[in-house]
Amino acid sequence: MIVIRTVNEIQLFARNEKENGKKTGFVPTMGALHKGHIMLVEQALKENDSVIVSIFVNPVQFNNPTDLVKYPRTLKSDLELLEKAGCHCVFHPEVEEMYPEPVTHFYDFGELDKVMEGKFRPGHFNGVATIVKKLLDIVIPHKAYFGQKDYQQLVIIKTMVKMEEMPVNIVSCPTIREADGLAMSSRNMRLNDKQRAEAPLIYKILKQASLWYDQMSINALIQKVETIINDNPEMQLEYFEISDSETLEPVRQKIRDKDVVACIAVYMGDVRLIDNIVFNY
Ligand code: PAJ
Repeated sequence: MIVIRTVNEIQLFARNEKENGKKTGFVPTMGALHKGHIMLVEQALKENDSVIVSIFVNPVQFNNPTDLVKYPRTLKSDLELLEKAGCHCVFHPEVEEMYPEPVTHFYDFGELDKVMEGKFRPGHFNGVATIVKKLLDIVIPHKAYFGQKDYQQLVIIKTMVKMEEMPVNIVSCPTIREADGLAMSSRNMRLNDKQRAEAPLIYKILKQASLWYDQMSINALIQKVETIINDNPEMQLEYFEISDSETLEPVRQKIRDKDVVACIAVYMGDVRLIDNIVFNY
């Protein structure tokens, strides 16, 4: 596995792979890798000849400076995991390498980035779209892999790729969970023992919500979830939404066979966890 730190070198590497007739799969990450990330890499390895993973903690997508400082950085074990998985190349640039100039482009995603994560983390998705566009332009992969764990991010990236008419297939991969249902996340390692023991409630309540959806009004369902989460002394609910799975607009009326996505964000102390589940009526 080769580790590359500069844009020039990764461009050369990717171009070379292409010239040798290899299909390239790309997995962008911010490091602190876990099984969720590795599953993306494994899927990319199955579907391509050459797999590039980027590790870059992208400062412009953090609207909270403390969150950026506290973001876990575990390069040594990340590289070990990737090597073991069979990844071919890691791109791990410095901030100055990716942002020689300040960001000036602002995407108009309409309502897509005004709700949920976009509402509570203003500017976040512009930062995500900016770095993903830069990385895709540099690597020009056949396929790029993203997790459904970050559902809204996936929708935004698909939209950005369409808006920019980029020649890449965006592949969406299922959320990988711990045995107790907690969605794997780099942030889980910041939970204390008590918080970690309570955290599986987040997915439990999402599964419960998918069952309640058949039985009660959406308003009643939202209220029920809000009460249960906020009654847990370790948790503070930021949002719980039932949204159209494509437009992400809040759904107030149930429609037969129309997929909705229930998205949740919960604070446990200063650790912010998100999760989602897709279902229909
Ligand atoms: P990061 O949080 O490191 O996630 C990298 C990729 O792994 C994303 O596509 C994310 O959805 C996926 N992922 C994370 N946890 C997962 C899980 N439990 N199951 C399945 N997939 C999971 O998301 C980002 O980085 C950044 O915003 C990025 C796209 C790299 C842009 O900076």
